[in-house]
Amino acid sequence: MSIASTTWISGPVLRARPEGPFRLREAVTVGPDRLLGEVIRIARDQIVVQVYEDTSGLRPGAEVAGSGRLLSVRLGPGILGHIFDGLLRPMSAEAGAYVTAGMQEEVPASFEFRPRASLGDQLGPGSVLGDAGRDGGDDQGEAGWTQRCLVPPDCPGGEVVFMAAAGFYPEDETVCRLHDAQGKEHELAMSHHWPVRIPRPVQKRLPSDEPMLTGQRVIDCLFPIPRGGTAAVPGGFGTGKTVLLETVAKWCDADVIVYVGCGERGNELAGLLAEFLELEDPRSGRPLLERTVVIANTSNMPVSAREASIYTGITVAEYFRDQGLNVTLMADSTSRWAEALREVSGRLGELPGEAGYPAYLSSRLADFYERAARVRTLGGTVGAVTVLGAVSPPSGDFSEPVTNHTKRYVGCLWALDVHRAQARFYPAIHPLQSYSVVARNLARWWHGQDCTRWEELRRRFLTLLEEEAHLERMARIIGRDAMPEHQRLILLCAQLVNQAFLRQSAFSEIDRYATPARQAVMMRLIGRFVGGAEDLLQAGIAPEAIAAEPIFRALMRMGEEIPEGDWDRYSALDRDLTATLRRLREARDTAGVSG
Ligand SMILES: Nc1ncnc2c1ncn2[C@@H]1O[C@H](COP(=O)(O)OP(=O)(O)OP(=O)(O)O)[C@@H](O)[C@H]1O
Ligand SMILES: [Mg+2]
Repeated sequence: MSIASTTWISGPVLRARPEGPFRLREAVTVGPDRLLGEVIRIARDQIVVQVYEDTSGLRPGAEVAGSGRLLSVRLGPGILGHIFDGLLRPMSAEAGAYVTAGMQEEVPASFEFRPRASLGDQLGPGSVLGDAGRDGGDDQGEAGWTQRCLVPPDCPGGEVVFMAAAGFYPEDETVCRLHDAQGKEHELAMSHHWPVRIPRPVQKRLPSDEPMLTGQRVIDCLFPIPRGGTAAVPGGFGTGKTVLLETVAKWCDADVIVYVGCGERGNELAGLLAEFLELEDPRSGRPLLERTVVIANTSNMPVSAREASIYTGITVAEYFRDQGLNVTLMADSTSRWAEALREVSGRLGELPGEAGYPAYLSSRLADFYERAARVRTLGGTVGAVTVLGAVSPPSGDFSEPVTNHTKRYVGCLWALDVHRAQARFYPAIHPLQSYSVVARNLARWWHGQDCTRWEELRRRFLTLLEEEAHLERMARIIGRDAMPEHQRLILLCAQLVNQAFLRQSAFSEIDRYATPARQAVMMRLIGRFVGGAEDLLQAGIAPEAIAAEPIFRALMRMGEEIPEGDWDRYSALDRDLTATLRRLREARDTAGVSG
């Protein structure tokens, strides 16, 4: 391995004189504490290293030792259900969310291995060689899950010449040996290393016409995200980014959640972990944490590891995707990540671009978001990585560089509005500033859910909200009462869409998530109200008369009051609505006849 001698240090960046060849992006260790770093630039007689730990106390002359491989993380069955730092080194949440300098990867734990290939079988990259299960000695009791062990994507594959018997093995112990066509032997364990900045290869990317359900009505019905899609959540200070991402993490229908806490508050992450341990996964009945991986690089941890953390996160997500799973990754917040990029770039003396960010901010964002996809894996299964990234624009200004560049690479924008948040209207997603470019592709899926009018109702709701924004301005000037009846009706219907449908508290036992079936029922009821009210208006009945009916209040509160699966009460609402509309109509007709 090559060595270099440090000549210059500035925060997380150092320069060193090499005494041997280094590779770009090679992982290195620095100084007596063996701090982990990465070669980020190479000149003729100098290398520049980014160090992922606190460099206080490091002196010129400190030895930089090359590792011969790119900055990598170890991917294996031990990842699920745990918390790691930005370079996938295990952390303990109890220890106050800190990693100590130079801490190396922990001794791998044992997992139960069950072979799924036999001697003489030909295995290619991505083929299944066995299953890995949780260590039976774990205090959580019975094994709650199994994972696939695959031939790593960078192994050419070959004939199985050794296969370990079923049993418990450390995750880095050889359980299978392959002979490739050149006669070379490859040793495979349950875990393997993969460089974080290199996307894991797939057979091909697939189109996506299936939604990643979040349980949040404003998302699933108005701005849906497909499996393998990308969404950005920009929002000013305190507008609800963290709560939204956490709510989606809890209720979305992904098999695995990768939560990257990037420069955000450490106590929020600790709270999330505690909550995930308590919450029950609706599908397995086991703690939600068991299908979650948390990557923490909170505001009190070294800034440079933050830069690597989102690539680490997406590499982990791809690892589970390759097992044929649907993975959702959330990064909170990508702005803090961009700030880390800016800090390192500044120390390198690079020419600053917009708002001080380096010129490559945009391409780095693209590198991250473009790894989201629904794919056919090398092993032939279908898996997806869906990516959600929060953006915290300074003073809520969406024209700043991180928000702006992010918008170029995402398919959905869920823009949080400070006025909605101030009015405690959550989730504060602004219906006119948000979009989903793929919404139309998902209509067929909703048809399959017995919601054949999804596309039509979605468009109707959006139009109402748009008209409302326009009329609100007028109402403020001339007063609501002075407006013509049909405009007052639009405001009334938009109010119903907002309050009954879009508003959804993350803290309400009943309403924190809604299944597609409940979303469809609510959508239909609101659609029927809107249609019925328009008919009544034609017959000369004022919007206020309709709003005064008890059914209007009942519809406004249905999300909060009628739980999942209580279809009888939703049917009763539907009958009440029909009866009310008929009664108002008949009263008008009789009045018309007698008058
Ligand atoms: N969906 C929601 N349901 C109910 N309350 C919410 C919701 N979203 C946000 N809130 C309220 O708003 C507060 C602030 O939300 P949050 O911490 O998510 O904001 P943030 O955008 O992440 O802020 P920061 O910019 O500081 O990271 C929460 O503590 C909560 O009280
Ligand atoms: Mg936050």
